[in-house]
Amino acid sequence: MTEKPVAEACVRNQQPILETIEELFRDKYSILELGSGTGQHAVYFANAMPWLKWQTSDLLENHPGINMWLEEANLANTLPPIELDVTQTVWSEQLYDGVFSANTVHIMPWTAVPKLFEGIGRHLDKGGLFALYGPFKYEGKFTSESNQRFDLWLKERAEHQGIRDFEKLDDLAELNGLTFVNDVAMPSNNQILVWQK
Ligand SMILES: C[S@@+](CC[C@H](N)C(=O)[O-])C[C@H]1O[C@@H](n2cnc3c(N)ncnc32)[C@H](O)[C@@H]1O
Repeated sequence: MTEKPVAEACVRNQQPILETIEELFRDKYSILELGSGTGQHAVYFANAMPWLKWQTSDLLENHPGINMWLEEANLANTLPPIELDVTQTVWSEQLYDGVFSANTVHIMPWTAVPKLFEGIGRHLDKGGLFALYGPFKYEGKFTSESNQRFDLWLKERAEHQGIRDFEKLDDLAELNGLTFVNDVAMPSNNQILVWQK
């Protein structure tokens, strides 16, 4: 790989996401990002919140791109990606006081999502926050026609993908010691769901 990977969606959503998570993470120190993707979010958020230590992670295939973004930005508060597939039993030895993840639960199979919440339950310190950005359904309904079309597009691309139900995510959160604290509306029919350990 010679060119840094760029996701146009990140360019559009990073500032609105920052405006919410900088309040959430104001008194936090160590953040684990699950599914860092290109690495763009990590650089943008860590640069804007220098009080945080931002641990990137993803499947191994995405590490070269993440490393390119981190190396170019050369920030003091980003950590190179750890190999993290949420279906693994052991993620790391570390406890974090925040977890951030964007656009991951509609990409991984539904069978992986309980593992994601189990891992977050294990790796969040008491009082720690989990902020999950993406599109969601409520009581089985899409929040917009464009999300419904996006869901169809996902399923045509890969049968196991699809927009998840808030209520099912919240059940999994509760099972793992997390309490729902907020749902912040974001541009383009996305949300940031927030749970606390
Ligand atoms: C649509 S991308 C989102 C990337 C980035 N967070 C963003 O918002 O641009 C979905 C991400 O989920 C990650 N992912 C998929 N399955 C995963 C799993 N089982 N464990 C951890 N990450 C996974 C992918 O590798 C990818 O980085």
